[in-house]
Amino acid sequence: MSAPVIFSGIQPTGRKHLGNYIGAIRQYVEGQERGEPAIFCIVDLHAISVAYDPAELRERLYDTTAILLAAGLDPANQCVLFRQSDVREHTELTWLLSAVTSHGDLNRMHQFKDKSMRQRELVSAALFFYPVLMASDVLAYRATEVPVGDDQRQHVELTREIARRFNERFGETLVEPELQVPEVGARIMDLQEPERKMSTTGATEAGTVYVLDEPAAIRKKFGSAVTDSGREILRGEEKPGITNLIDILAVARGVGPADIEREFAGAGYGDFKKAVAEGVVELLAPVRERYADLRPDEAALEATLAAGAEKARAIASPILEKVRDRMGIGVPAR
Ligand code: TYM
Repeated sequence: MSAPVIFSGIQPTGRKHLGNYIGAIRQYVEGQERGEPAIFCIVDLHAISVAYDPAELRERLYDTTAILLAAGLDPANQCVLFRQSDVREHTELTWLLSAVTSHGDLNRMHQFKDKSMRQRELVSAALFFYPVLMASDVLAYRATEVPVGDDQRQHVELTREIARRFNERFGETLVEPELQVPEVGARIMDLQEPERKMSTTGATEAGTVYVLDEPAAIRKKFGSAVTDSGREILRGEEKPGITNLIDILAVARGVGPADIEREFAGAGYGDFKKAVAEGVVELLAPVRERYADLRPDEAALEATLAAGAEKARAIASPILEKVRDRMGIGVPAR
């Protein structure tokens, strides 16, 4: 089998949390080894679909770039890392693909429903169109694999549907990508409200562990994590809090959840929560330390993004030419 073309995107915010790290960023780092190429995009154009501050967007974009580099992405040798708005093929393809996207499908997107309900002022058309831009991100590279957390499942399904519809209508051109969610940790839950996923927007502050949190903050958040009335350290639907902590520690230690259950059989919740905190401190401390070194040098971050954009454009541009030609747009190709 040929090597996969891996593509994923991440929103620019400095408040990347443990869910992002475990569900996505860790998969990106692993994907660099296999992808030919592995392409990662910081999606500033997606970020403007809700209320935002332009100056802050720029800052958060650098924050995210530095977090990804600190986590182990290696754009000099192993991956392509770029800012979405630098590669205009994404926006052009969004419009072209909107012609084969069903309005009804967009209306069914859970994230649109959730986010539009939370908007206090404008529910923008951009928020509605968000999944078309996301499909364009992926399809512009003919990606075969999209590593994401569970909450992006529906968007990747729609991406596949859009590719399918394009190919049916205009001939085989685009590739239907495979969704890749991690076996453990695809949906990390809020520590205070373990029925809700950890998230930058709708979760609790005390229940959200940030990648850049100091060890003391991490210990405090795990110390007050909500567990359940039982005593057993076992996974189960009726034990969402403990299940979440088991998954987190399993990932932090690089073992399976069953290994954690075995190790902590008979232990109390208090000791277990301490162990989870230590596991996460060890996982995130090196990232936070490298981040502190990388973040101040914005010129270096810009240079990294510019080099990435050039590589990304070189891949996307011929694919766009093909799409335009198939659709009868522009000067005919010879
Ligand atoms: P974003 O920036 O919200 O999240 C980045 C990644 O983190 C995953 N994630 C989680 N995983 C496990 N548990 C959680 N609690 C959790 N919360 C978030 C997300 O699934 C995601 O993989 N629409 C995307 C960005 C995007 C994209 C793309 C992704 C734009 N274009 C093309 C893939 C391909 C988003 O908002 O991710």
